Amino acid sequence: MIDIESGHPAIDRYLAQSYERVRGMSSRFAAAICGHLIRHQSALGIGGALVEIGTFEGRFFIAMALGLAPGETAIGIDRFDWPDAGIEGRFLANCAAHGVSSDRYLCWKADSREITPGVMREKLGAQAVRFVHIDSHHSRECLTNDLELAGAVLHRDGIICLDDMLHPGYPMVVAAVFDYFARHPEMRLLCVIDREDIVAAPKFLICRNTSISLYEKDLLGSFARFHFTMNADMETYFALVLTPHPRLAEV
Ligand SMILES: C[S@@+](CC[C@H](N)C(=O)[O-])C[C@H]1O[C@@H](n2cnc3c(N)ncnc32)[C@H](O)[C@@H]1O
Repeated sequence: MIDIESGHPAIDRYLAQSYERVRGMSSRFAAAICGHLIRHQSALGIGGALVEIGTFEGRFFIAMALGLAPGETAIGIDRFDWPDAGIEGRFLANCAAHGVSSDRYLCWKADSREITPGVMREKLGAQAVRFVHIDSHHSRECLTNDLELAGAVLHRDGIICLDDMLHPGYPMVVAAVFDYFARHPEMRLLCVIDREDIVAAPKFLICRNTSISLYEKDLLGSFARFHFTMNADMETYFALVLTPHPRLAEV
């Protein structure tokens, strides 16, 4: 097991004892880094909702929701129709079993493509979204929709985390991200979280240009031993790369 912690006691207990037992697809490595960012946001006074689009049985959602600060809520969105009709019940049961009480989150059975920013704002009340994990249908069309939806309700210093970037099974979806950057030059890649495995694939963390300084140095300092020193070449800037086993090719 990779030796990594978020620094948030409840999240770390869950990551150590239960994470792998909740069926799901996100890596523990990525969940620890995202949990760390959620804790870091709280320490900086960045408050708001935590949202996941594509909860499945709740593996990653629970890690996020355990990082809620007092007064904040989480929203878990899923169609809850795959692989069978029991999925919503298993999601709710997993949240209860792992310490996320029902008054801290909203379980929203919906197709994200049918959610408008206006309806999303109604569900959020006064909260902006400070951290959102997008892990729904792995198509350019759905990711484009979800990125625009997330961007519309994102806290000024919020973070969008994208699952299965650069996954060999979904080579086209990353195109939606670069199209999004072209439409939204105020957004940029903060960090690539590398894969643990083909079923626990890389994630991108993106945020506004103006928020990079809040996160980059902290990530580097906290996860220095996972830093791929060449970083990610985005042509006009470099983004951080954190990988479970950093090394360079021997030349
Ligand atoms: C890969 S699974 C999510 C895994 C989970 N986030 C984790 O880390 O364990 C993808 C989920 O997205 C849901 N999904 C797919 N398309 C969707 C859509 N358009 N709206 C809402 N949920 C969707 C599926 O029902 C499925 O539960």
